[in-house]
Amino acid sequence: MSSFKVLSVVSEVFPLVKTGGLADVAGALPAALGRHGVETRTLIPGYPTVMAALGHRETVHRFDDLFGGPATLLDGKAGGLDLFVIDAPHLYDRPGGPYMGPDGLDWADNARRFAALGAVASGVGLGLVPGFVPDIVHAHDWQAGLAPAYLYYAGTRRPGTVMTIHNIAFQGQFPAHDFPMLGLPPHAFGLHGVEYYGMVGYLKAGLQLADRLTTVSPGYAGEILLPDAGMGLDGLLNARSHLLTGILNGLDEAGWNPATDTLIAKPFDAKSLKTRVANKVALKEAFGLDADPEALLFGVVSRLSWQKGLDLLADSLDTLLGLGAQLVLLGAGDADLAGRFAGAAHVHPGRIGVQLGYDEGVAHRIQAGADMLIVPSRFEPCGLTQLSALRYGALPLVARVGGLADTVIDVNEMARSAGVGTGIQFSPVTTPALQMALKRAAGLWRDQALWQKLQRNAMATDVSWERAARQYDTLFRTLAAERAA
Ligand code: ADP
Ligand code: GLC
Repeated sequence: MSSFKVLSVVSEVFPLVKTGGLADVAGALPAALGRHGVETRTLIPGYPTVMAALGHRETVHRFDDLFGGPATLLDGKAGGLDLFVIDAPHLYDRPGGPYMGPDGLDWADNARRFAALGAVASGVGLGLVPGFVPDIVHAHDWQAGLAPAYLYYAGTRRPGTVMTIHNIAFQGQFPAHDFPMLGLPPHAFGLHGVEYYGMVGYLKAGLQLADRLTTVSPGYAGEILLPDAGMGLDGLLNARSHLLTGILNGLDEAGWNPATDTLIAKPFDAKSLKTRVANKVALKEAFGLDADPEALLFGVVSRLSWQKGLDLLADSLDTLLGLGAQLVLLGAGDADLAGRFAGAAHVHPGRIGVQLGYDEGVAHRIQAGADMLIVPSRFEPCGLTQLSALRYGALPLVARVGGLADTVIDVNEMARSAGVGTGIQFSPVTTPALQMALKRAAGLWRDQALWQKLQRNAMATDVSWERAARQYDTLFRTLAAERAA
């Protein structure tokens, strides 16, 4: 019997190319699904880092003209993943990030770059590579949104399609004059196709035309049906809500394991919380903070963007310092926000430490050394940093939204008497509410016995991929059986 096959279509994948949690998920899900007998291939653009990491490769298809130039489809392995790589130098061989140039501006030809991803996915779905004909094509976020569309309009026997929303704020909208370039039938440019408010919408296309829709937490699956979080797509999602499910992400448990982590000062587990202190000491040293062993140390590991609500924290630094607490922040993104935190670190050396940029090792060391991780997001489809925080015993202090609300148990009276709390939630997502939460944290910190109990609860939380893999597996197989019937 041939195995059940999934083509995962995605624009970033850890450890090859990453701008956020999407890469983590795309990198971890294949192995988790593998334990359920699902064979996953990941289709990814041949950015320079991907091409460089690719070892032995085989050309499985040649395109004379893939959206403006010759290209090949390569079959190979990198970063522990089985890949199909689109080697299309005219689209992907350039310095900069997967979506933006070194100048921080979106690549002008993104419509073309990700139309190619969708079109090749559809090709593979329809049997372009005879050795791997998928049962399911799984498209992630707007960059892969055209894959279900191409398959839908192919008008032939095709695999089932699943569209997963990791972040509805990024929708991939392009001018109507890009439509002819896509090579879709003319009637595809309509309300029930890829048209979106007079433009071409890649995420809209996927959400309109895929057989099933998922997002990365049950909480967010509910929120995006409402105008605020739905960001224009709530109408469409309501019409298709019977096809939408929320499947909570897991954490790459091998990559994020405090007992074996080689990136941190001293490995530890729930039974050796005393050892964890060595990581706090090392972290403070690295950030030049006062030794002050009694002080509560907050941490942040984040993109700096409106979504993440860190402006609320920047507005609350006086409160935090007034509590005698300290802060270490690792962040990349918005220049204004970066400037505010860097400025605060300059004014309060010894109390606030800031590192700007992206640094995997420092991210691990903050999780291992901070007492609490602050995640004040305005919206959060799932969130992964609070999951690693749980695993590393850094109690998450989170906004009560999306996946944050689904994964952190607020230590309220009821949770305390039941002995199940794992962190602090605050709501609404405002500066006063965050400041109240900081004060609550300081109150809890005074009770070290309770704190350690909370740490043990946090570290015992199931953040594995297993639960999610089971849900995806069932979804995929049910859909495939339906299509076969
Ligand atoms: P998002 O994808 O919205 O940024 P997630 O919480 O899902 O949020 O995923 C963020 C991922 O990126 C996590 O793996 C986190 O550790 C990592 N990360 C975020 N900011 C940084 C940074 N400045 N340096 C290193 N890793 C970071
Ligand atoms: C997006 C979301 C984040 C989620 C990640 C992986 O980047 O912002 O909440 O955890 O995708 O699904």
